[in-house]
Amino acid sequence: MLEEVRQLASVAVEEIEAARDDKALEALRVHHLGRKSRLRQIARQIGQRPAAQRPALGQATACAQKAIQQALDDKALALRQVAEAAALDVTLPGRRPLLGCAHPLSQLTDELIGIFQGMGFDVADGPEVEDEYHNFDALNTPADHPARDLHDTFYLEGGGLLRTHTSTVQVRVMEQTPPPVRIISLGRCYRRETVDATHHFAFHQIEGLYVDHGVSFADLKGTIEAMGRQLMGEETQVRFRPHFFPFTEPSVEYDFTCICKGQRTNCSICKGTGWIEIAGAGMVDPAVFTAVGYDPDEYTGFAFGMGLERIAMIRHGIDDVRRFLENDLRFIRQF
Ligand code: PHE
Repeated sequence: MLEEVRQLASVAVEEIEAARDDKALEALRVHHLGRKSRLRQIARQIGQRPAAQRPALGQATACAQKAIQQALDDKALALRQVAEAAALDVTLPGRRPLLGCAHPLSQLTDELIGIFQGMGFDVADGPEVEDEYHNFDALNTPADHPARDLHDTFYLEGGGLLRTHTSTVQVRVMEQTPPPVRIISLGRCYRRETVDATHHFAFHQIEGLYVDHGVSFADLKGTIEAMGRQLMGEETQVRFRPHFFPFTEPSVEYDFTCICKGQRTNCSICKGTGWIEIAGAGMVDPAVFTAVGYDPDEYTGFAFGMGLERIAMIRHGIDDVRRFLENDLRFIRQF
């Protein structure tokens, strides 16, 4: 009987290995391991055998069962692998990996960082959730100052606000660092604007600040001109117009020559004037130096703040500022 058990196992394994599909395999499992199988029959009879034979016989049937089960498992796995391989069509075109691209504002940010690092500026960062002190008071804009009306501010419960400009970072950097200071800061700002094609409640600015002994308005002009040429082309010219900001004195707004070079009377960007309004700048007001603990008799400095969306819109011919924040890949992928 021992011999029969061994024989049963070896036949079963052989048949299992030759099985063609899952159905055949299942039939073999029932045939060799099922309740009516010869092996189970033998196992049931072990108790009636002479005591001396029982241990060897028990061991042999257990061993045979294990071998058959193992063969069934192996074959099932092999059949599955064959099926999967058959489903693979190597003639199909491959799947292209999805390549991302930098948002046009991120590209501009990187470019501006490159331009200003080339002129020796460091990059500083500041929080978007600010307090009134850093957004207004330290920038010479006290509570009753009319300039506060110019900024429609999102105030937060508990006294905070969303910064209305990146000039907050000037204050934070000067509070932390003794002069000389030469930094730019880039980031998102918020104002309570009614959203349309040219206004958004969230937008981006770059802030620049240079403080040292003897920094002059000529340094400001030279720096803005160098930026303009690198950003908009070698032939770009800059025009400075008197303006007012509470935190700079004197203050200016500056314009770049339009990419149409003033040659298109119907130019949609400059409306035929040849100039495009870019941003604000000026010499840091002595009151700001006093607020951050700098000696206004010893140091001078310039600052500028510029919106990024407008520059990107001009450069890429984008006609709607809302596009920048819609996260529509069809838009972003174009740049
Ligand atoms: N913070 C000003 C604005 O957002 C821009 C500015 C920055 C002007 C620095 C002068 C100096 O309008």
